[in-house]
Amino acid sequence: MSETPNLSSLQKEGEIFAPSAQALEKAIVTDFDALREEANANPPAFWERQARELEWFEPWNEVVKWQASPPKVEWFVGAKCNITVNALDRHVQNGNRNKVAFIWAAEEGEAVYKEKKVTYGELLRRVNQCANALKAMGVGKGDRVTIYMALTPALPIAMLACARIGAIHCVVYGGFSAPALRQRIEDSGSKVVICSDMGYRRGKRIDLKGIVDEATRGLHEVEKILVFRRGHTPIELHEPRELDWNETLDAQSPHCEPEVLDAEHPLFYLYTSGTTGKPKGIVHVHGGYAVGTSYTHKICFDLQPDDIYLCTADPGWITGHSYVVYGPLINGATVLLVEGALDFPDPGRWWKVVEKYGVNIFYSTPTAIRALMRFGEEYPAKYDLSSLRVLGSVGEPINPEAWLWFHKNVGKGNCPIVDTWWQTETGQFLIATVPSYPAKPGSPGKALPGIVADVVDREGNPVETGKGGFLVIKSQWPAMMRTISGDVERYNGYWELIPGCYAAGDVATKDEDGYFRVMGRADDVMNVSGYRIGTAEVESALVSHPAVAEAAVIGKPDPLKGESIKAFVILRDGFEGGDELLKTLTSHVRVELSPIAMPAEIDFVPSLPKTRSGKIMRRVLKAQELGVAPGDISTLED
Ligand code: WT7
Repeated sequence: MSETPNLSSLQKEGEIFAPSAQALEKAIVTDFDALREEANANPPAFWERQARELEWFEPWNEVVKWQASPPKVEWFVGAKCNITVNALDRHVQNGNRNKVAFIWAAEEGEAVYKEKKVTYGELLRRVNQCANALKAMGVGKGDRVTIYMALTPALPIAMLACARIGAIHCVVYGGFSAPALRQRIEDSGSKVVICSDMGYRRGKRIDLKGIVDEATRGLHEVEKILVFRRGHTPIELHEPRELDWNETLDAQSPHCEPEVLDAEHPLFYLYTSGTTGKPKGIVHVHGGYAVGTSYTHKICFDLQPDDIYLCTADPGWITGHSYVVYGPLINGATVLLVEGALDFPDPGRWWKVVEKYGVNIFYSTPTAIRALMRFGEEYPAKYDLSSLRVLGSVGEPINPEAWLWFHKNVGKGNCPIVDTWWQTETGQFLIATVPSYPAKPGSPGKALPGIVADVVDREGNPVETGKGGFLVIKSQWPAMMRTISGDVERYNGYWELIPGCYAAGDVATKDEDGYFRVMGRADDVMNVSGYRIGTAEVESALVSHPAVAEAAVIGKPDPLKGESIKAFVILRDGFEGGDELLKTLTSHVRVELSPIAMPAEIDFVPSLPKTRSGKIMRRVLKAQELGVAPGDISTLED
């Protein structure tokens, strides 16, 4: 977060949408304001009530222990638990053994598996077999396991198997390239990697195992690679380092006692972009995370026992961790996993799936909605979407136009849209309205019960209604991150920017009704299609190319992606800028980092604006690019 934003909201006050009769009928929280007041009067007591809904081996002796400086939080202190008991055993024992946990819809064109259903009973057995297999490979409590897989049920099985034995999973999204994967394997110190042989996207095979081979070449710390082979002709494996998933799991017992863990025992690391080149390994734990994700999943979507729930996120992101895997499974939901792109074989893909399975809750992103909008109303109109009851959005501000399109064409005017604001670091929703509460398009609404949020200036003073400032959280919440792996300084940084608050890194406004509006990131992190990408990550990928001497990257407003990436590049002597090099550098970023990080534009420039201390002033580049005043340039060198 570089400078204090001097922004007043340009977004106009929009319409207010009262909850539909359909939403009120199934409301879990009927008086949102009353619940918030009650919760905020005593947040620990409120969260303790939610925790009592779950199973624990041993109870806590203190609900929350917070130390402000250096920041340190513990929830359900002294309690013993294992998140998989709440996600699996509990349902199997309570009469839901044969309830479907996952329905997997493979991408069309996949000839082997078209669809697969996994019940809670089957899921528990397979998770246990995988847990036993991991133990046999020498994985134990506290060990890290990197997971790099396509979206099939094997992915959540691998995650849950780690959790079962107290190992820490580090899921890396299957769209990351070999160098990015290697960096995460190394940073986490994983001794085992679990991967799929391939994924499918738009009918094309993605050679995931090949990427793992490249990422782990010469990495002797990786002792075993467990490969889930789904291909028609099985790829070759090199024993003893590489093992076949099916063979290995089948040989194991389907019984595995859950490891009795401290509530604060780490559950996973998940890497997210920060302002420096290195991604941050955000650490979440078993106890509080289970409470925070399951409670918010239930109240924000009004989850009913026989609902079919579809969240379009990949488990490789926090949305997938909290709201595809843990939150929904703890709530005993039936979760639909849809592999592949939203427009393959045609842009009716998701609506076809909604009709086929009778989806009740549909949770997606503004980028996806904007993309679908472009294809036209005829696609959602072709299918029966009457099963839908609640819609959700996450990842970036949803522009009112997309909100209204979604509401009309997908929700048919009957479905509330729950816009959920949260982060990898927060683990759970913090700002969102429940379905029974009036919604304003473009606003995620108010802070949830037990959460105290505000918009403040640099000194921590609340700003006037409608004025822009830093979005902060003044309370603690159970699913908050506990640390950043190997980098406690950066963790502390979240509480050091603004006195007494957790600074989210977003700029926002709050209106007279207390509804927040997020304007974007305050720091050098871009939000491209809902993906957080650090400017520094793209810059370091660019300068790793021999032609590049220096690079600066900014995010530009983009009607479809939210932000698009623009790079300014100084070339080394002897290199000539042109279309050829432009293409080369773009694909270099794809290979070094990920396709989602590819610059949409590259300008070759002779110099870059810098401070006297040599820091690139991206703010100046951005102002120039957008044709606005650059603000304070007193620190500019020349
Ligand atoms: C950043 C967090 C947590 C889910 C996926 C992204 C932006 C997230 C919203 C929303 C406006 C949003 C913020 C936030 N963001 N949800 N509903 N409205 N902005 O997780 O990668 O950790 O990114 O995404 O800028 O800080 P993430």
